[in-house]
Amino acid sequence: MQIKCTINKQKRVFECSPTKRVLDLLRENGLTSIKEGCGGGECGACSIFLDGKLVNSCLLIALQIDNKEILTLEGLEKETKNLQENFGRCGAIQCGFCTSGFILRSYDYIKDGGRADEESIKKALDGNLCRCTGYQKIVESIAKSMK
Ligand code: FES
Ligand code: FES
Repeated sequence: MQIKCTINKQKRVFECSPTKRVLDLLRENGLTSIKEGCGGGECGACSIFLDGKLVNSCLLIALQIDNKEILTLEGLEKETKNLQENFGRCGAIQCGFCTSGFILRSYDYIKDGGRADEESIKKALDGNLCRCTGYQKIVESIAKSMK
């Protein structure tokens, strides 16, 4: 089946099975900021924006992105520059596997007017898992990015 969509503001056409996982489709086409952590909607490592909404690409099939607009971290480098720098400065990146998911989650939170206190930030990160950092440094980087 032919799947037409916009990825990072560029029109794309894919010839693939309608049930192909979007996570695989995007990674195979060079969008490797997207990672497979759990593969079951639990960790947020595969996050993308689909028509402006943050979703887990491991739970989507190709048919669900037909005629839709996708944004990945590759298309949001400028908008997330400050966050990325603060993650680096605060030591919130260790193996880095979870990082793009956390950056997109944080970006979404900040742009929607999220609060800068620690408890609110922790709540906003509910759908993202990190095995390395213990989360505190991630929370600090986000708070710093909101100053
Ligand atoms: Fe998709 Fe974990 S890989 S939520
Ligand atoms: Fe390794 Fe988060 S930095 S999983």
